Amino acid sequence: MSDLKATVAETANGFHVEGYEKIEYDFTFLDGVFELPNLQLAKLYEKWGRCLAIMDRNIFELYGQSMQKYFDHHGLELKIHQTMIGEKAKSLDTFTNIVDSMTDFGIIRKEPVLVVGGGLVTDVAGFACAAYRRNTNYIRIPTTVIGLIDASVSIKVAVNYGNYKNRLGAYHAPAHTLLDFGFLRTLPEAQVRNGFAELIKISSCAHLPTFDLLDEFCERLIKTKFGRVSDHDGEIKKAADEINRNGIFEMLKLETPNLHEIGLDRVIAYGHTWSPLHELAPPVPLRHGHAISIDMAYSATLANDRGLLSDEEHRRLLALFSRAGLSMDHELFNEEILDKATQAILKTRDGLLRAAVPSPLGSCKFLNDVAMKEMAQALRRHKELMKEYPRHGAGIEAYVDSSDTGYTINQKHDPAPMHAQASSAEASKKHGLNNGVLHGLKELAINGHGPGLPTLEQR
Ligand SMILES: NC(=O)c1ccc[n+]([C@@H]2O[C@H](COP(=O)([O-])OP(=O)(O)OC[C@H]3O[C@@H](n4cnc5c(N)ncnc54)[C@H](O)[C@@H]3O)[C@@H](O)[C@H]2O)c1
Ligand SMILES: [Zn+2]
Repeated sequence: MSDLKATVAETANGFHVEGYEKIEYDFTFLDGVFELPNLQLAKLYEKWGRCLAIMDRNIFELYGQSMQKYFDHHGLELKIHQTMIGEKAKSLDTFTNIVDSMTDFGIIRKEPVLVVGGGLVTDVAGFACAAYRRNTNYIRIPTTVIGLIDASVSIKVAVNYGNYKNRLGAYHAPAHTLLDFGFLRTLPEAQVRNGFAELIKISSCAHLPTFDLLDEFCERLIKTKFGRVSDHDGEIKKAADEINRNGIFEMLKLETPNLHEIGLDRVIAYGHTWSPLHELAPPVPLRHGHAISIDMAYSATLANDRGLLSDEEHRRLLALFSRAGLSMDHELFNEEILDKATQAILKTRDGLLRAAVPSPLGSCKFLNDVAMKEMAQALRRHKELMKEYPRHGAGIEAYVDSSDTGYTINQKHDPAPMHAQASSAEASKKHGLNNGVLHGLKELAINGHGPGLPTLEQR
């Protein structure tokens, strides 16, 4: 929600307008947002007596019924729009389908659309709200770790377009975000781990007590989905709640003075210097959390080489990535990628590297003056160090699958006969595909890194 205050003055040959926009939005933690006695959501829709909800198909299948019961119980009409799943659905088609549902529903000024799902749905539906009548309210209920602690903390919304990630978008704050970590109960472990990387990022550069908790509870947090399954004495949930609250608070404090990303020295860009290009280098792209972990681990080695991070803290950080099953290295993370990615990021960051590194752990410094020779030397040392770690620094379930891309879903619904499906699987293999993941995401990304960068935004 915003409220623009502006003044107009006459100048010698025209006018000068100066304005300030007030932006305010709230976050509420609650477990069990659709549990009947929990009134928070119902109260937000009481005034309207009805609600249009946008959610992805998986979320609908898992939570559609309990959501319907909740709205029925509170005497609120509910209309649900289901979107497709995966990065493929982050498209203008999905955007216009949502817009059509808003028109069919007859959404009225100030009436908030409800958006339930991971970062993908909140990004595309948030953008539909930003564009609809130039500004329509919305309320977010994120359901993934990435959504809860990252995508729904920011006010950036977008769709992919013309082979570029997040090419069309806006800064559009929701009226309210309800943070229910209970959704993590059903989230696959690989997705939990993916989000865990962003928590390592924020804590290692901005909040040591949170890093300490991640370090203490690492494996248990991932296994129990942040204490939402089989946490008998509630100890893990307690730690998770503290981690999440502090992580989100730190991110809000760092990013809200820079909501429109005019400042380029960004602490939360730790791990996001070389990863945008590298994420898409393997035949099947890396999961975002793994790509940034490789970048973070390598940056930590670089910082250690420079004496900015002590040996002890460097090892502590690497051990945490390893224990979490996150990647710290990849055979395609080589000098050539480093060089290309450096050229690309210099363009997005106004000619300076601005590589955030933890120094000391819990706070951050920016590196600008790193020559290629120094980067290459640090990379050689990093790869040597990796030999000491399980899997030589490779991650667990590090590559995207159909749950991230959505391409297999389309195949599944293709009425092709069995033999045609078999040959499409063969074709997939021939083209270096895995788990039925088509090349779409990779093409999208690689084209995004054509000449004239900056084009690919990963966040
Ligand atoms: N706006 C921002 O600042 C920002 C920040 C980070 C990421 N993003 C965007 O977010 C997107 C990635 O979001 P994501 O990682 O949340 O992935 P996602 O939304 O694609 O969800 C991942 C998978 O998990 C499923 N899922 C979601 N919640 C579930 C639950 N509770 N239980 C079971 N399955 C569940 C989804 O259906 C999907 O298959 C990317 O498009 C990225 O660009 C945006
Ligand atoms: Zn990220």
